[in-house]
Amino acid sequence: MMTYTITTPLYYVNDKPHLGSLYTTMASDALARFQRLEGKQVMFVTGVDEHGQKIQRTAEGNNISPKHHCDQITRSYQNLWSRWGISNDRFIRTTSHRHQLLVEAFFHRVETSGDVYLGRQQGWYCVGCEEYKDEPPQAQSPCCPIHQKPLEWRDEENLFFKLSRFQSKIEDLISQPDFIWPVMRRNEIQNFVAQGLRDFSISRVDVDWGLPVPGYPKHTFYVWFDALVGYLSALLDDGGQVRIERLEECGWPASVHLIGKDILRFHAVYWPAMLISAGLPLPKQVFGHGFLTREGQKMGKSLGNVLDPEKLLEICGADAVRWYLLRDIQFGHDGDFQQKRFMDLVNNDLANTIGNLLNRTSTMARKWFEGSVPTHRDEIDYAHPLVTTAETTITIVRQSMPSMAFHDAAEAILKLAIAANVYLNETAPWSRMKTPGNEAEVADDLYSVLEACRLVGLLINPLVPSLSERLLNQLGLSIDGNDWSKGLAWGQLQSGALLPPSQPVMQRLELSSSL
Ligand code: MSP
Repeated sequence: MMTYTITTPLYYVNDKPHLGSLYTTMASDALARFQRLEGKQVMFVTGVDEHGQKIQRTAEGNNISPKHHCDQITRSYQNLWSRWGISNDRFIRTTSHRHQLLVEAFFHRVETSGDVYLGRQQGWYCVGCEEYKDEPPQAQSPCCPIHQKPLEWRDEENLFFKLSRFQSKIEDLISQPDFIWPVMRRNEIQNFVAQGLRDFSISRVDVDWGLPVPGYPKHTFYVWFDALVGYLSALLDDGGQVRIERLEECGWPASVHLIGKDILRFHAVYWPAMLISAGLPLPKQVFGHGFLTREGQKMGKSLGNVLDPEKLLEICGADAVRWYLLRDIQFGHDGDFQQKRFMDLVNNDLANTIGNLLNRTSTMARKWFEGSVPTHRDEIDYAHPLVTTAETTITIVRQSMPSMAFHDAAEAILKLAIAANVYLNETAPWSRMKTPGNEAEVADDLYSVLEACRLVGLLINPLVPSLSERLLNQLGLSIDGNDWSKGLAWGQLQSGALLPPSQPVMQRLELSSSL
């Protein structure tokens, strides 16, 4: 079976994890979980990017060695992902020995292809971006628009990669409809490429905290050259030999690199050219998601408005944050974190529309049908409004999730829960049960609503896995005990099955102060 490989960026360890890293990671996690449920063999890769001047300087500023600094921050990433329940299969550190071996082997291939030469690099550099900027040499005190910090003038001997040689290959690649997603980001990259690709430097002579370039004393690899190869090292991190030839058995090429829009150029232009030079297959897709702001403002340390993933988890729980970010923001577009809206959506969608629906329906079933799922009378009525809504929902979820339209999937699931609420209110079993002789009809109706809840529980699993487990548990089921595809057919809930004691599935969010 073909492996479905999905990667997050390898996060810089200059600082502890932030909302941006959480956002990409939780979206990748949702996709990975969905593909596993669909029966795919998934390889979900994340990790950290530990070299470069930015990290070297941060460690110096803290008076600790870069290695010690990286160990600390890397540990905080690993702990954080495990506490958030991220289901990654691999976690790569670019300071690992296996990674170094692979970078050397990769470089050897690129050099053998004749794509490396020594040259002189002059230009304005942003250490925050770890990137040369396009400012002209004569610019007076230029500043990085992203980091708001002065650019540094560099004039040094570097190794260069012959990117210019790949102009037409990259043009062909980026014009393929599925390569850059969402489509609106393709233009920006096409414009950049249309200006003509220029060779870029892949080594530094003034940065000690990097991997040494074999055959070039004093040179260390440019952090991006090193980090991108990390996607490959992660796949070979299975205890076997570090041999490039093994990559295709280990999950390469990636099905999708999920990244933020700011690093699209590296992934959609530089990286494919490096891979072609090394004789390796290209990733099938690069998805550049949007940026998050908070209450309309850019998040930053200086503004003191950074949302800390640790704190978010502690106060709000993973389900609430995942639901809000994946349901409210069209994945690919920029989005704004608004605390009031966050609370409203979590309370309305998860606690009321979904949680209360299950709670009140199962309470009636327990009370009137001996604590179990009521027995329905008829064969499945395919014209039943909940059956038709469920069918539409399943189709939308299965189409939206693989194309990362998480908001569409979430909305469709919510519509099913709303339809079930409407159905319950219209059939009003609580009043019909008062008249003797209505039990069989009421049983049918409660069964249908509980069945809709079961489907909501299954479908919502990739988006909010813990809530999904709690929903299914309330019906005496679990995600593991179910074959997802089979389970998505209407009527799988067993009549007569005992319902466990009632427990609320979703706490309301009551935030009295700013997060
Ligand atoms: N180390 C590189 C990636 C190397 S991949 C081989 C890097 N790391 S990063 O930690 O700076 O950024 C990681 C990701 O976080 C990027 O995809 C970036 O887009 C994302 N975000 C950073 N701030 C963000 C927001 N405010 N909103 C959403 N995502 C943002 O770049």
